[in-house]
Amino acid sequence: MNPALEGQVALVTGGSSGIGYGVAQALANAGASVAINYHSHGEAAEALAASIEKAGGQAVAIQADVSDEADIDAMFDTLIKRFGTVDIVVANSGLQKDAKFVEMTLADWNAVMNVNLTGQFLTAQRAVREFLRRGPRPVSRALGKIICMSSVHEVIPWAGHVNYASSKGGIQMMMKSLAQEVAPHRIRVNSIAPGAIRTPINKAAWDNPEALKTLLELVPYGRIGESEDIGRAAVWLASDDSDYVVGTTLFVDGGMTLYPGFADNG
Ligand code: BGC
Repeated sequence: MNPALEGQVALVTGGSSGIGYGVAQALANAGASVAINYHSHGEAAEALAASIEKAGGQAVAIQADVSDEADIDAMFDTLIKRFGTVDIVVANSGLQKDAKFVEMTLADWNAVMNVNLTGQFLTAQRAVREFLRRGPRPVSRALGKIICMSSVHEVIPWAGHVNYASSKGGIQMMMKSLAQEVAPHRIRVNSIAPGAIRTPINKAAWDNPEALKTLLELVPYGRIGESEDIGRAAVWLASDDSDYVVGTTLFVDGGMTLYPGFADNG
């Protein structure tokens, strides 16, 4: 049996740590050649690329600031030179700059919007241009696949994180509007909305037993998520197994969006 993504090329932005790292590894395990974008953690991205190659896969690490259009163009140029084209683009880069609303600086607002929302816009736009340029390939039923990394906070309001939640709410509507626009070209755009996943971005919420206990009150399924949980969802959304899935957000959150506060209340 061929791996699900044999012969396909994937790009994962923000692939040097956390969810992006797990997704890049999972796509490589499923047979895709992978470009691992990073902003500042070059060693981690290079190490992941090296370990994928050692295991018999193909991978390259590419530096780019996803909020910079020239960097995005240069990244796609490098990727296309190396692998010929791209079939799967995971717009994953994201960050948090948390603050109480009255104390949130414009710089913190802009930094989060620029990376989380504008970064996905630029990444997806360049991806669509490439899919249209190169036309169909026998490796996939779709012309191309875009996966936007959203969050449960595209629907769950989050005090103290107004910039972050706004960026994820924006991703929800960007993804759906884009999906509607490009579906006639057989380009599939979908999102994954992770809940609490054990990564550096939310370390304070899981790195001691008390914090973890409080966090798990928000997760009916009773465990924290791992990057591999998101990796498996990404492989499915990138593969022909989900060929009829268009413009959907797949929540991978252990039930965090089920309003667990109502389980014994209301
Ligand atoms: C955030 C994490 C948070 C999780 C659940 C994610 O989008 O980046 O910090 O733990 O949502 O609230």
